[in-house]
Amino acid sequence: MVFLSVSFVIHPQHNTMALSKESKALLQAQVELWNQTLSFMKSVALAVALDLRIPDTLRHHGGAATLPQILSGIGINPCRHDEPVYKLTTVSCLLTGDDVGENTASSLSPMLSHVLYPFHDSVLSVGLTAWFRHDEEPSKCPYALMHGVTLWEMCGSSEALNASINNAMAADSRFLVPIVVEECGGIFRGIDSLVDVAGGVGGAAATIAAAFPSLKCMVLDLPHVIAKAPSVSNVQFVAGDMFESIPPANAIFLKYVLHDWGDDKCIKLLKNCKQAIPSRDAGGKIIIIDIVVGSSPSDIKLLETQVLCDLYFMEIGGVERDEQEWKKIFLAAGFKDYNIMPLGLRSIIELYP
Ligand SMILES: C[S@@+](CC[C@H](N)C(=O)[O-])C[C@H]1O[C@@H](n2cnc3c(N)ncnc32)[C@H](O)[C@@H]1O
Repeated sequence: MVFLSVSFVIHPQHNTMALSKESKALLQAQVELWNQTLSFMKSVALAVALDLRIPDTLRHHGGAATLPQILSGIGINPCRHDEPVYKLTTVSCLLTGDDVGENTASSLSPMLSHVLYPFHDSVLSVGLTAWFRHDEEPSKCPYALMHGVTLWEMCGSSEALNASINNAMAADSRFLVPIVVEECGGIFRGIDSLVDVAGGVGGAAATIAAAFPSLKCMVLDLPHVIAKAPSVSNVQFVAGDMFESIPPANAIFLKYVLHDWGDDKCIKLLKNCKQAIPSRDAGGKIIIIDIVVGSSPSDIKLLETQVLCDLYFMEIGGVERDEQEWKKIFLAAGFKDYNIMPLGLRSIIELYP
Protein backbone atom coordinates (compact mmCIF):
# COMPACT_ATOMS: atom_id res chain seq x y z
CA MET A 1 0.00 0.00 0.00
CA VAL A 2 2.80 2.39 0.92
CA PHE A 3 4.48 1.64 -2.38
CA LEU A 4 1.27 2.31 -4.31
CA SER A 5 0.46 5.58 -2.67
CA VAL A 6 4.04 6.83 -3.18
CA SER A 7 4.14 5.81 -6.83
CA PHE A 8 0.77 7.35 -7.70
CA VAL A 9 1.64 10.91 -8.63
CA ILE A 10 -1.79 12.20 -9.35
CA HIS A 11 -2.56 15.83 -9.99
CA PRO A 12 -5.94 15.32 -11.59
CA GLN A 13 -7.35 18.17 -13.59
CA HIS A 14 -11.02 18.90 -13.91
CA ASN A 15 -11.78 20.80 -17.05
CA THR A 16 -15.19 22.31 -17.25
CA MET A 17 -15.48 22.81 -20.98
CA ALA A 18 -17.23 25.79 -22.47
CA LEU A 19 -19.70 23.80 -24.57
CA SER A 20 -21.65 25.25 -27.49
CA LYS A 21 -25.31 26.10 -26.78
CA GLU A 22 -26.46 23.24 -29.06
CA SER A 23 -24.30 20.59 -27.33
CA LYS A 24 -25.35 21.81 -23.90
CA ALA A 25 -29.04 21.59 -24.84
CA LEU A 26 -28.63 18.10 -26.34
CA LEU A 27 -26.72 16.77 -23.31
CA GLN A 28 -29.31 18.26 -20.94
CA ALA A 29 -32.11 16.68 -22.99
CA GLN A 30 -30.35 13.33 -22.74
CA VAL A 31 -30.18 13.64 -18.94
CA GLU A 32 -33.95 14.43 -18.88
CA LEU A 33 -34.71 11.32 -20.96
CA TRP A 34 -32.53 9.00 -18.87
CA ASN A 35 -34.06 10.43 -15.70
CA GLN A 36 -37.57 9.82 -17.01
CA THR A 37 -36.71 6.37 -18.39
CA LEU A 38 -35.03 5.12 -15.23
CA SER A 39 -37.62 6.52 -12.81
CA PHE A 40 -39.04 2.98 -12.59
CA MET A 41 -35.86 2.04 -10.69
CA LYS A 42 -37.20 4.03 -7.71
CA SER A 43 -40.25 1.74 -7.68
CA VAL A 44 -38.07 -1.35 -8.14
CA ALA A 45 -35.82 -0.24 -5.25
CA LEU A 46 -38.84 0.38 -3.01
CA ALA A 47 -40.37 -2.99 -3.94
CA VAL A 48 -37.08 -4.77 -3.15
CA ALA A 49 -36.67 -2.88 0.16
CA LEU A 50 -40.19 -3.93 1.17
CA ASP A 51 -39.60 -7.54 0.07
CA LEU A 52 -36.43 -7.61 2.15
CA ARG A 53 -38.34 -5.99 5.07
CA ILE A 54 -35.62 -3.38 5.55
CA PRO A 55 -37.91 -0.81 7.30
CA ASP A 56 -39.12 -3.50 9.75
CA THR A 57 -35.53 -4.52 10.46
CA LEU A 58 -34.67 -0.93 11.34
CA ARG A 59 -37.68 -0.73 13.62
CA HIS A 60 -36.68 -4.00 15.35
CA HIS A 61 -33.31 -2.38 16.04
CA GLY A 62 -34.99 0.56 17.76
CA GLY A 63 -35.12 2.74 14.61
CA ALA A 64 -31.40 2.78 13.70
CA ALA A 65 -28.95 0.08 12.64
CA THR A 66 -25.56 -0.45 10.99
CA LEU A 67 -25.35 -2.23 7.63
CA PRO A 68 -24.17 -5.56 9.18
CA GLN A 69 -27.12 -5.36 11.61
CA ILE A 70 -29.55 -4.72 8.76
CA LEU A 71 -28.06 -7.58 6.73
CA SER A 72 -28.27 -10.09 9.55
CA GLY A 73 -31.78 -8.82 10.40
CA ILE A 74 -32.97 -9.63 6.88
CA GLY A 75 -31.15 -12.97 6.87
CA ILE A 76 -28.15 -12.04 4.72
CA ASN A 77 -24.64 -12.99 5.71
CA PRO A 78 -22.94 -9.70 6.59
CA CYS A 79 -19.76 -9.74 4.50
CA ARG A 80 -18.94 -6.04 4.68
CA HIS A 81 -18.10 -4.00 7.73
CA ASP A 82 -19.47 -0.57 6.94
CA GLU A 83 -19.94 1.54 10.03
CA PRO A 84 -22.59 4.09 9.04
CA VAL A 85 -25.85 3.84 10.98
CA TYR A 86 -29.07 3.87 8.97
CA LYS A 87 -32.08 5.42 10.70
CA LEU A 88 -35.79 5.27 10.11
CA THR A 89 -37.09 8.57 8.81
CA THR A 90 -40.66 9.80 8.89
CA VAL A 91 -41.03 8.40 5.36
CA SER A 92 -39.55 4.95 6.06
CA CYS A 93 -41.53 4.72 9.36
CA LEU A 94 -44.64 4.59 7.17
CA LEU A 95 -43.19 1.50 5.46
CA THR A 96 -42.85 -0.62 8.59
CA GLY A 97 -45.27 -3.51 9.03
CA ASP A 98 -47.98 -3.79 11.67
CA ASP A 99 -46.54 -6.82 13.46
CA VAL A 100 -44.45 -5.06 16.10
CA GLY A 101 -46.96 -2.94 17.94
CA GLU A 102 -46.24 0.67 18.70
CA ASN A 103 -46.63 3.40 16.07
CA THR A 104 -47.44 1.07 13.20
CA ALA A 105 -51.16 1.77 12.96
CA SER A 106 -50.34 4.29 10.24
CA SER A 107 -48.31 1.84 8.12
CA LEU A 108 -48.69 2.39 4.37
CA SER A 109 -46.78 -0.78 3.60
CA PRO A 110 -49.81 -2.90 2.51
CA MET A 111 -51.05 -0.10 0.24
CA LEU A 112 -47.64 0.53 -1.33
CA SER A 113 -46.99 -3.21 -1.72
CA HIS A 114 -50.27 -3.42 -3.63
CA VAL A 115 -49.46 -0.46 -5.89
CA LEU A 116 -45.94 -1.79 -6.40
CA TYR A 117 -47.25 -5.24 -7.35
CA PRO A 118 -46.07 -5.06 -11.00
CA PHE A 119 -42.60 -4.18 -9.74
CA HIS A 120 -42.52 -6.89 -7.02
CA ASP A 121 -43.33 -9.31 -9.79
CA SER A 122 -40.81 -8.05 -12.35
CA VAL A 123 -37.79 -10.15 -13.33
CA LEU A 124 -35.65 -7.23 -12.19
CA SER A 125 -37.08 -7.03 -8.62
CA VAL A 126 -37.22 -10.79 -8.19
CA GLY A 127 -33.61 -11.02 -9.43
CA LEU A 128 -32.37 -8.26 -7.12
CA THR A 129 -34.19 -9.67 -4.06
CA ALA A 130 -32.86 -13.18 -4.83
CA TRP A 131 -29.36 -11.77 -5.32
CA PHE A 132 -29.40 -9.96 -1.96
CA ARG A 133 -30.53 -13.15 -0.23
CA HIS A 134 -28.19 -15.46 -2.11
CA ASP A 135 -24.68 -15.75 -0.75
CA GLU A 136 -23.49 -19.09 -2.06
CA GLU A 137 -21.99 -17.62 -5.23
CA PRO A 138 -21.30 -13.96 -4.40
CA SER A 139 -19.52 -13.38 -7.72
CA LYS A 140 -22.79 -13.96 -9.64
CA CYS A 141 -24.69 -10.80 -10.52
CA PRO A 142 -28.55 -10.71 -10.33
CA TYR A 143 -28.81 -11.26 -14.12
CA ALA A 144 -26.60 -14.37 -14.03
CA LEU A 145 -28.48 -15.66 -10.98
CA MET A 146 -31.81 -15.37 -12.81
CA HIS A 147 -30.71 -16.51 -16.26
CA GLY A 148 -27.78 -18.83 -15.55
CA VAL A 149 -25.48 -16.84 -17.86
CA THR A 150 -24.20 -13.25 -18.03
CA LEU A 151 -25.89 -10.68 -20.26
CA TRP A 152 -22.95 -10.84 -22.69
CA GLU A 153 -23.14 -14.64 -22.87
CA MET A 154 -26.90 -14.41 -23.44
CA CYS A 155 -26.25 -12.07 -26.40
CA GLY A 156 -24.20 -14.88 -27.95
CA SER A 157 -27.23 -17.18 -27.99
CA SER A 158 -30.08 -14.70 -28.57
CA GLU A 159 -30.03 -12.94 -31.95
CA ALA A 160 -32.79 -10.56 -30.80
CA LEU A 161 -30.99 -9.49 -27.62
CA ASN A 162 -27.67 -9.15 -29.47
CA ALA A 163 -29.36 -6.92 -32.10
CA SER A 164 -31.17 -4.88 -29.43
CA ILE A 165 -28.01 -4.07 -27.45
CA ASN A 166 -25.89 -3.45 -30.56
CA ASN A 167 -28.53 -1.06 -31.94
CA ALA A 168 -28.90 0.67 -28.57
CA MET A 169 -25.17 1.24 -28.24
CA ALA A 170 -24.78 2.34 -31.87
CA ALA A 171 -27.55 4.92 -31.31
CA ASP A 172 -25.85 6.13 -28.13
CA SER A 173 -22.58 6.54 -30.03
CA ARG A 174 -24.26 8.35 -32.94
CA PHE A 175 -25.63 10.79 -30.34
CA LEU A 176 -22.59 11.32 -28.14
CA VAL A 177 -19.45 10.81 -30.20
CA PRO A 178 -20.08 13.70 -32.67
CA ILE A 179 -20.39 15.97 -29.59
CA VAL A 180 -17.11 14.56 -28.22
CA VAL A 181 -15.36 15.13 -31.56
CA GLU A 182 -16.83 18.62 -31.95
CA GLU A 183 -16.29 19.85 -28.39
CA CYS A 184 -13.10 18.03 -27.36
CA GLY A 185 -11.54 16.66 -30.54
CA GLY A 186 -8.17 17.63 -29.05
CA ILE A 187 -8.13 14.37 -27.07
CA PHE A 188 -7.52 12.48 -30.36
CA ARG A 189 -4.77 14.80 -31.63
CA GLY A 190 -1.26 13.35 -31.76
CA ILE A 191 -2.57 9.78 -31.73
CA ASP A 192 -1.92 7.65 -34.82
CA SER A 193 -3.65 4.43 -33.76
CA LEU A 194 -6.63 3.70 -31.50
CA VAL A 195 -8.38 0.52 -30.38
CA ASP A 196 -12.02 0.91 -29.35
CA VAL A 197 -12.17 -1.90 -26.79
CA ALA A 198 -15.63 -3.48 -26.47
CA GLY A 199 -16.58 -1.05 -29.22
CA GLY A 200 -19.75 -2.88 -30.26
CA VAL A 201 -20.58 -2.67 -33.96
CA GLY A 202 -18.30 0.34 -34.42
CA GLY A 203 -20.63 3.32 -33.98
CA ALA A 204 -18.03 5.36 -32.11
CA ALA A 205 -15.07 4.25 -34.24
CA ALA A 206 -16.91 5.21 -37.46
CA THR A 207 -17.37 8.81 -36.26
CA ILE A 208 -13.80 9.10 -34.95
CA ALA A 209 -12.30 7.60 -38.15
CA ALA A 210 -14.33 9.99 -40.33
CA ALA A 211 -13.21 13.01 -38.29
CA PHE A 212 -9.53 11.95 -38.16
CA PRO A 213 -8.76 10.16 -41.45
CA SER A 214 -5.08 9.60 -40.63
CA LEU A 215 -5.99 7.75 -37.40
CA LYS A 216 -5.79 3.95 -37.70
CA CYS A 217 -8.90 2.68 -35.88
CA MET A 218 -9.66 -0.82 -34.71
CA VAL A 219 -12.72 -2.19 -32.88
CA LEU A 220 -12.37 -5.18 -30.55
CA ASP A 221 -15.49 -7.01 -29.36
CA LEU A 222 -16.86 -10.51 -28.84
CA PRO A 223 -17.29 -12.70 -31.98
CA HIS A 224 -21.14 -12.54 -32.04
CA VAL A 225 -20.97 -8.70 -32.03
CA ILE A 226 -18.18 -8.38 -34.61
CA ALA A 227 -20.12 -10.76 -36.88
CA LYS A 228 -22.91 -8.14 -37.07
CA ALA A 229 -20.66 -5.10 -37.63
CA PRO A 230 -21.10 -3.24 -40.93
CA SER A 231 -17.98 -2.53 -42.94
CA VAL A 232 -16.71 0.96 -42.15
CA SER A 233 -14.02 2.70 -44.15
CA ASN A 234 -10.75 3.07 -42.23
CA VAL A 235 -11.94 0.83 -39.34
CA GLN A 236 -10.69 -2.71 -38.78
CA PHE A 237 -12.84 -5.13 -36.73
CA VAL A 238 -11.27 -7.80 -34.54
CA ALA A 239 -13.10 -10.52 -32.59
CA GLY A 240 -11.59 -11.32 -29.21
CA ASP A 241 -11.85 -11.21 -25.43
CA MET A 242 -10.66 -7.97 -23.82
CA PHE A 243 -9.84 -9.86 -20.60
CA GLU A 244 -7.40 -12.03 -22.58
CA SER A 245 -5.49 -9.52 -24.69
CA ILE A 246 -5.79 -6.18 -26.46
CA PRO A 247 -4.05 -5.28 -29.74
CA PRO A 248 -1.28 -2.66 -29.35
CA ALA A 249 -2.08 1.00 -30.19
CA ASN A 250 -1.20 4.56 -29.16
CA ALA A 251 -4.50 4.93 -27.37
CA ILE A 252 -7.34 2.76 -26.09
CA PHE A 253 -10.93 4.00 -26.17
CA LEU A 254 -13.38 2.59 -23.60
CA LYS A 255 -16.86 4.01 -23.97
CA TYR A 256 -19.51 2.81 -21.54
CA VAL A 257 -17.58 -0.39 -20.78
CA LEU A 258 -15.97 -0.16 -17.33
CA HIS A 259 -19.31 0.61 -15.63
CA ASP A 260 -20.49 -2.88 -16.66
CA TRP A 261 -17.92 -4.51 -14.38
CA GLY A 262 -16.90 -4.73 -10.72
CA ASP A 263 -13.54 -3.46 -9.52
CA ASP A 264 -11.53 -6.69 -9.98
CA LYS A 265 -12.57 -7.08 -13.62
CA CYS A 266 -11.93 -3.36 -14.30
CA ILE A 267 -8.45 -3.60 -12.82
CA LYS A 268 -7.69 -6.66 -14.98
CA LEU A 269 -9.00 -4.87 -18.08
CA LEU A 270 -7.10 -1.66 -17.34
CA LYS A 271 -3.90 -3.65 -16.81
CA ASN A 272 -4.42 -5.27 -20.24
CA CYS A 273 -4.99 -1.79 -21.73
CA LYS A 274 -1.79 -0.51 -20.08
CA GLN A 275 0.19 -3.34 -21.68
CA ALA A 276 -1.19 -2.42 -25.10
CA ILE A 277 -0.09 1.26 -25.08
CA PRO A 278 3.33 2.97 -25.02
CA SER A 279 4.54 5.27 -22.22
CA ARG A 280 2.91 8.66 -21.69
CA ASP A 281 5.98 10.37 -23.23
CA ALA A 282 5.47 8.28 -26.37
CA GLY A 283 1.79 9.36 -26.53
CA GLY A 284 0.18 6.44 -24.67
CA LYS A 285 -3.19 7.04 -23.00
CA ILE A 286 -6.61 5.55 -22.31
CA ILE A 287 -9.72 7.56 -23.17
CA ILE A 288 -12.68 6.55 -20.99
CA ILE A 289 -16.25 7.74 -21.46
CA ASP A 290 -18.36 6.80 -18.46
CA ILE A 291 -20.33 8.31 -15.58
CA VAL A 292 -18.40 10.03 -12.79
CA VAL A 293 -21.07 10.25 -10.08
CA GLY A 294 -21.22 13.80 -8.72
CA SER A 295 -19.40 15.30 -11.74
CA SER A 296 -21.53 18.45 -11.31
CA PRO A 297 -22.71 18.14 -7.68
CA SER A 298 -24.92 21.23 -7.77
CA ASP A 299 -27.04 19.71 -10.57
CA ILE A 300 -29.48 17.59 -8.53
CA LYS A 301 -31.35 16.19 -11.56
CA LEU A 302 -28.03 15.01 -13.03
CA LEU A 303 -26.91 13.47 -9.73
CA GLU A 304 -30.23 11.66 -9.33
CA THR A 305 -29.94 10.31 -12.89
CA GLN A 306 -26.39 9.07 -12.25
CA VAL A 307 -27.56 7.29 -9.07
CA LEU A 308 -30.52 5.75 -10.96
CA CYS A 309 -28.01 4.44 -13.54
CA ASP A 310 -26.04 2.90 -10.67
CA LEU A 311 -29.18 1.08 -9.45
CA TYR A 312 -30.05 -0.03 -12.98
CA PHE A 313 -26.63 -1.46 -13.87
CA MET A 314 -26.47 -3.37 -10.56
CA GLU A 315 -28.50 -6.05 -12.33
CA ILE A 316 -25.60 -7.02 -14.62
CA GLY A 317 -22.93 -6.59 -11.94
CA GLY A 318 -22.11 -3.03 -13.01
CA VAL A 319 -21.52 0.05 -10.88
CA GLU A 320 -21.36 3.81 -11.43
CA ARG A 321 -18.31 5.27 -9.66
CA ASP A 322 -17.53 8.61 -8.09
CA GLU A 323 -14.09 10.13 -8.58
CA GLN A 324 -12.58 8.43 -5.49
CA GLU A 325 -13.83 5.04 -6.70
CA TRP A 326 -12.34 5.64 -10.16
CA LYS A 327 -9.06 6.74 -8.61
CA LYS A 328 -8.90 3.52 -6.57
CA ILE A 329 -9.08 1.27 -9.64
CA PHE A 330 -6.68 3.48 -11.66
CA LEU A 331 -4.17 3.22 -8.83
CA ALA A 332 -4.59 -0.55 -8.53
CA ALA A 333 -4.06 -0.97 -12.29
CA GLY A 334 -0.79 0.99 -12.12
CA PHE A 335 -1.81 4.29 -13.75
CA LYS A 336 -0.29 7.60 -12.65
CA ASP A 337 -2.44 10.49 -13.73
CA TYR A 338 -5.87 11.38 -15.07
CA ASN A 339 -7.92 14.26 -16.28
CA ILE A 340 -11.73 14.49 -16.04
CA MET A 341 -13.93 16.52 -18.39
CA PRO A 342 -17.66 16.35 -17.49
CA LEU A 343 -19.91 16.02 -20.53
CA GLY A 344 -23.56 15.86 -19.46
CA LEU A 345 -24.50 12.53 -17.88
CA ARG A 346 -21.04 11.12 -18.51
CA SER A 347 -17.49 12.41 -18.41
CA ILE A 348 -14.40 11.94 -20.54
CA ILE A 349 -11.48 10.64 -18.49
CA GLU A 350 -8.01 10.73 -20.03
CA LEU A 351 -5.91 8.20 -18.14
CA TYR A 352 -2.11 8.13 -18.36
CA PRO A 353 0.43 5.38 -17.56
C1 LIG B 1 -22.40 -1.39 -23.10
S1 LIG B 1 -21.69 -2.07 -24.53
C2 LIG B 1 -20.61 -0.75 -25.05
C3 LIG B 1 -20.38 -0.76 -26.54
C4 LIG B 1 -19.59 0.46 -27.05
N1 LIG B 1 -18.39 0.70 -26.32
C5 LIG B 1 -20.45 1.70 -27.09
O1 LIG B 1 -20.38 2.52 -26.18
O2 LIG B 1 -21.24 1.83 -28.03
C6 LIG B 1 -20.54 -3.22 -23.85
C7 LIG B 1 -19.80 -4.04 -24.89
O3 LIG B 1 -18.86 -4.88 -24.21
C8 LIG B 1 -18.72 -6.05 -25.02
N2 LIG B 1 -18.03 -7.09 -24.24
C9 LIG B 1 -18.49 -7.73 -23.14
N3 LIG B 1 -17.58 -8.62 -22.71
C10 LIG B 1 -16.51 -8.51 -23.56
C11 LIG B 1 -15.25 -9.17 -23.63
N4 LIG B 1 -14.92 -10.11 -22.72
N5 LIG B 1 -14.39 -8.82 -24.60
C12 LIG B 1 -14.74 -7.87 -25.53
N6 LIG B 1 -15.92 -7.22 -25.51
C13 LIG B 1 -16.79 -7.54 -24.53
C14 LIG B 1 -20.15 -6.35 -25.36
O4 LIG B 1 -20.25 -7.28 -26.42
C15 LIG B 1 -20.68 -4.97 -25.70
O5 LIG B 1 -20.54 -4.67 -27.08
